[in-house]
Amino acid sequence: MDLGIAGKVAIVTGAAAKLGNGRAIALALAREGADVAVADIDIAGAENVAREIREMGRRSLALQVDQGDYEAVAAAAARIAEELGPIDILVNNAAILSNIALLDKMEVSAWDQEVKVNLSGPYYWIRAVFPGMAERGWGRIVNISSVAGLSGGVGQAGYASTKAGLGGLAKTVALEGARAGVTANTLYLGIIETEGAKGNIRPDMWERIVKRNAMRRPGTVEEVANMVAFLVSQQASFLTGADIIMDGGQSLFVF
Ligand SMILES: NC(=O)c1ccc[n+]([C@@H]2O[C@H](COP(=O)([O-])OP(=O)(O)OC[C@H]3O[C@@H](n4cnc5c(N)ncnc54)[C@H](O)[C@@H]3O)[C@@H](O)[C@H]2O)c1
Repeated sequence: MDLGIAGKVAIVTGAAAKLGNGRAIALALAREGADVAVADIDIAGAENVAREIREMGRRSLALQVDQGDYEAVAAAAARIAEELGPIDILVNNAAILSNIALLDKMEVSAWDQEVKVNLSGPYYWIRAVFPGMAERGWGRIVNISSVAGLSGGVGQAGYASTKAGLGGLAKTVALEGARAGVTANTLYLGIIETEGAKGNIRPDMWERIVKRNAMRRPGTVEEVANMVAFLVSQQASFLTGADIIMDGGQSLFVF
């Protein structure tokens, strides 16, 4: 199937990690012919991914952005538009899950930081790119969420709340963009084998989580990237405001 995104300009946030969802998504979009900007707080990793994209014959740009800072996001979006052209696709993938503590033990500053990076950041990016997409009559926005946003998570009040918030944000964008050709969808991931997840989850806990899904295995970054490539494609033109759960059957009645 031709996804119809050759020549489109995409931003993928949080795409610096070698084994991360963001890098896999950025490479998949480049493989489909898109030019891809890589925005991450980790500039060395982002540069590596941008180089890989250029080696595939596509244009790319790496930017160091702390997406909890509105001015930084607005400046980055403006630079991408200037260097690569008007932005057609935004994949809000960057997030942190460093703040794990029971409700009353959670540092308020850590909660605030999670809200900034995981929820305000995606809003800032959308705010920067949405008007241009609507004006040109074509746009695709995907928020990468987590099943924690649907089910909650012990010790993960900040992460779960921000990931739930992404759904409401995407639905609002879907409504405001529906007649202007801009779609917005939320992808709720179950356990995916990435450096970020493995770094944050103890090995025994990892095994327990993996065994909770019907497939009894973690998802791969390629599986995530394939789904996102479809969601941002021309072919997904009637899909908007959707909550898509991709968790290997974790939310099914598994026992
Ligand atoms: N791996 C999983 O099991 C899993 C499950 C559910 C959801 N997700 C979601 O997938 C996405 C990617 O996660 P991942 O597992 O690939 O982990 P990851 O840690 O590799 O990805 C997160 C990226 O965000 C970047 N980042 C962190 N703070 C930032 C900031 N302030 N500004 C800009 N960039 C910043 C990091 O440098 C990193 O490159 C996240 O949204 C995560 O919540 C992952």
